[in-house]
Amino acid sequence: MCGIVGYVGHGDAKEIIIDGLKKLEYRGYDSAGIAIQQRGQLKIRKQVGGIANLEELIGTEDMTANCGVGHTRWATHGAPSTINAHPHSNQDNTIAVVHNGIIENYVELKNWLIENYDIDFKSETDTEVVAQLIGVFFEGDLLDAVYKAVEKMRGAYAICAVAADDPNKLVAVRKDAPLIAGLGKDENFIASDIPALLKYVKEIYLIENNETVVVTPDSVQILDEQRRPVKRDVFHVSWDADSAEKEGYDHFMLKEIFEQPKGLTETLMRRLNDDGTINLDGISMTKEEIENFNKIYIVACGTAYHAGLVGKYVIERLARVPVEVDVASEFRYRNPFVDDKTLFIAISQSGETLDTLAALREAKSKGARILSVVNVVGSSVARESDDVFYTWAGPEIAVASTKAYTTQLMCMYLIALHMAYERGTITKEFYDQFIADLKEIPDKISYFLKAKTGSVEKLAKKLYNRDQVFFIGRGLDSAVAYEGSLKLKEISYINSFAIAAGELKHGTIALMEPETLVVTLATQDFLYEKILSNIQEIKARGAHIVSVAKDGKEDVKAHSNETIYIPYCRDEITPLLSVIPLQLFAYYVAKEKGCNIDKPKNLAKAVTVE
Ligand code: AGP
Ligand code: GLU
Repeated sequence: MCGIVGYVGHGDAKEIIIDGLKKLEYRGYDSAGIAIQQRGQLKIRKQVGGIANLEELIGTEDMTANCGVGHTRWATHGAPSTINAHPHSNQDNTIAVVHNGIIENYVELKNWLIENYDIDFKSETDTEVVAQLIGVFFEGDLLDAVYKAVEKMRGAYAICAVAADDPNKLVAVRKDAPLIAGLGKDENFIASDIPALLKYVKEIYLIENNETVVVTPDSVQILDEQRRPVKRDVFHVSWDADSAEKEGYDHFMLKEIFEQPKGLTETLMRRLNDDGTINLDGISMTKEEIENFNKIYIVACGTAYHAGLVGKYVIERLARVPVEVDVASEFRYRNPFVDDKTLFIAISQSGETLDTLAALREAKSKGARILSVVNVVGSSVARESDDVFYTWAGPEIAVASTKAYTTQLMCMYLIALHMAYERGTITKEFYDQFIADLKEIPDKISYFLKAKTGSVEKLAKKLYNRDQVFFIGRGLDSAVAYEGSLKLKEISYINSFAIAAGELKHGTIALMEPETLVVTLATQDFLYEKILSNIQEIKARGAHIVSVAKDGKEDVKAHSNETIYIPYCRDEITPLLSVIPLQLFAYYVAKEKGCNIDKPKNLAKAVTVE
């Protein structure tokens, strides 16, 4: 999910590539690198950290060249490091490759290359396999070698290759990862995304899936899988640079809300084996170890903590193990019961939240097994855990977490299912049906986003000028109520408050006045009658009620001022859907108030202080 830039022409390749990479930093980066063709050889420079680190490494070194490729990495295979940074090269440094995405059969290909060509791999990445493959197939024609290599590769990727012995040429391939070609005058470009090229060109080719593009200073040729030329209309870019980074969305938060179906698909589908069982990559717990746990702690902060509340519910319900959820900043100051029969699950998007890291270290010192659910590969929380279960949400830029939250939930479901199956507390039929229901969620979210975003926006415009908003729910709905409340308060600065609906009558209902706005989650079938009673309690006091309910639950409408319907799904997984209207509501309220949505006041994306 990171940045590719390629250049060939009469200009300064290094300047153009570095400049383009900087425009892609929003896609997340943990390392960066460049390969240029210089005097018949490839010169490769790469560095861990941001692009500034790469520039510092290069310094005043002679990087004169008219052809090259560059990359900013969002690590998936192999921690962020200089050796794992792209570009990757073949054995004799005559081929260099940059890559976005994942080569799913890289282990198989790596073994094939070692057995058949005695290749000595330098890095831990899947990408190096691509460079070595092209290297063994190269016989003077880069395009030929790329086609042969791609035939063997499986996965989702965009690659761009350059060869020392096939000068002034780039060859790039797109399969399920973004790729464009920029059309200049006696110069042409390759990039993952439009922002990288906006300064130089306004005419581009959008490369489609399974297409290969050959770029020279005076030509850009698109070929299909059978190497037949493809005719492509020129796309005229009208975006300015800022909107291009957001791919046309007004804010990163909205873009990331809409990226959730893709993130969930990545997080789920890549972990399903052909037989439908879950492949918990990164988790080495044995069946005996899972059976040995007599307590689970889920510890996190903010939105990640709210994901833990859902995790508690599903792990206890499916795997029948006691789960305690705690905010990280409290956990280690209450002398918690932790020993070698404890599983400690840390959830963190950034993997750098110091409160969470400190709690993890405390649990580790007391002998707990540490499993972390993290979005940033190679982050501190990931590195200090025994097992890491990555969310594949891609870089989350907006301070308000959305796609990281729903992919964290997906990880909670997969962990709960796996543990329950290993402990024999669910049947194979239940397991298979649950997985089948999870697989339907991305499409259901896509449907909701397409069909209902407009109505949520309209509701937000009607209700945005409130000083206080309550969020209530029962069971899993109360966990989502907390998340909906946090979203609203952190980007609109409205004082919002979440409470378990059954708890209202024990004090908080004293705050109910005519027109008090209450967002009510009413998605749990088995608690439906109860939540209807709560709705009527607050209706009797004149509250303005916005309910979120599953399709088909018509009677909730009679007691609500407005009702937002989400597609029907089983109770346990409704949080994946019911949070979406709450994210959109918070976004459009904040937008109506003119707030700084992606960078709210007083907040940081990663809170690295205690
Ligand atoms: C959520 O929208 C906030 N940005 C904040 O609560 C965040 O979830 C919290 O700081 C934890 O961050 P982490 O997931 O990176 O550890
Ligand atoms: N899978 C590759 C790696 O981990 C590419 C990651 C990316 O898209 O930046 O290096």
